[in-house]
Amino acid sequence: MVIACFKVIAMQLLNGHEPSAIKKAIQLLKDGDIVAFPTETVYGLGADVFNPYAVAKIFEAKKRPRFDPLIVHIGEKEWLFDLAEYVPPEAERLIDAFWPGPLTIILKKKDIVPDIVTAGLQTVGIRMPSHPVALNLLRGFKRPIAAPSANPFGYVSPTKASHVVKMLGDRLPLILDGGNSVFGIESTIISIREDGIYIHRHGAISVEDLYKIAVPIHEKVEDGICESPGELPYHYAPAKPLKIINAIDEIVCEQSSFLAFQMPPVKPKSKFIKVLSEKGDMREAAANFFSFLIELDHEGVEIIYAEKVPEVGLGKAMMDRLRKASKKYSHTTR
Ligand code: TXA
Ligand code: MG
Repeated sequence: MVIACFKVIAMQLLNGHEPSAIKKAIQLLKDGDIVAFPTETVYGLGADVFNPYAVAKIFEAKKRPRFDPLIVHIGEKEWLFDLAEYVPPEAERLIDAFWPGPLTIILKKKDIVPDIVTAGLQTVGIRMPSHPVALNLLRGFKRPIAAPSANPFGYVSPTKASHVVKMLGDRLPLILDGGNSVFGIESTIISIREDGIYIHRHGAISVEDLYKIAVPIHEKVEDGICESPGELPYHYAPAKPLKIINAIDEIVCEQSSFLAFQMPPVKPKSKFIKVLSEKGDMREAAANFFSFLIELDHEGVEIIYAEKVPEVGLGKAMMDRLRKASKKYSHTTR
C-alpha cells in the first residue's frame, strides 16, 4: 500500500511581487502541486480547483481530520459563470460593491467543480481576493484556485509569510511572500435566498457594510446550513444507508453499492462497485471519495457498504465522513 506521508520538502520563500516568483508558482500549480500565497485577509494554501488530486494535497498538508468545503478564488468576475449554476441579481450587486475583496458568496455549483472542493455539497463558496499577488497569481494561472487558510488544522490563520513558514514550511514547495495581510481576519461568508442574505461567517466585511448594499440580512443561519459545515454531525451523507465494513464477506445484500478502498481480492456481491484507489494511494482515494459516494448513492440500491480506510494521513478525514454518514443510518433505522 502506498501511503502518502510528509517527506521533508525543500521549501522556497519568494517575494510574491516578483514576476519570476509568480511564474514559479504557476508552474507548480500546473504540475498539480500546492502553493501558499497572500490574500488581503489571511494567507491561503492553494491548488488548481479542477485537479482533485492536487486539492487532496491541501487536506493532507493541513492534516485536517475531516474534509471542509474550500473557498474557490477567482481572478475575473466572468470566471464565476463557469463555476456557479446561477448568479442571482442580489449576488451581482454585492460583487460589484465588494469584489475584489473579502466577501465569499455561496452559490449553487456547476458539475465541473470537483466534489472534493465542496466536500460533497452542491454549493460552492467563491471570492475574488484583492491582494495584488493573489490576483497576479490567479490571472497568470488563468484558472480558479481552491484555498483554505494556510494553517494546520486547529491553528489560527496566518497573516504573514513567516507564519506559514513556521506552520507548514516542511510540507510545501513554495510560499509567496506578500507582506502582512491587511485585514488579518478571514472573509465574510454569505449565501443568498429568496428572503435575504444569510451570514455564514462574520469576517472582514462588516454587517453594517453589507446593509449598505443589501437587505434584509439574517445573521443566524438555520435549517442545517451553518457557519462551518465540517462541524455538523453530517453535512453530506448519502440518501441511502451506509455501513462501514472490515471485510467483503460482511456484504449480505446484493441490491447494494460497495465503496472499496483497494481492489478486493474476490468479486463482492454488490451490484455497483467503486474502488477508491487500486494502488492504495491516499491522495487518489481522497480525490475520488465524494464523487464515488455520490455515484454509489444509487436509486436501485438498499444500502451502501464502505470498506474501512486505513486511518493514516487523509484516511482519517475519509473515515470521519464515513462514520458520520453511518451514524445517520443507525439513527434512522433504530
Ligand atoms: O479569507 C478567507 O476566506 C481565507 C482566504 C485564504 O481566502 N480562506 C479561508 O478558508 O478562510 P477556510 O477553508 O479556512 O474557511 C472557509 C470556510 C469554512 O468554514 C467552510 O466551511 C466555509 O468556508 N465554506 C466553504 N464552502 C462552503 C459552502 N459551499 N457552504 C457553506 N460553507 C462553506
Ligand atoms: Mg481556516
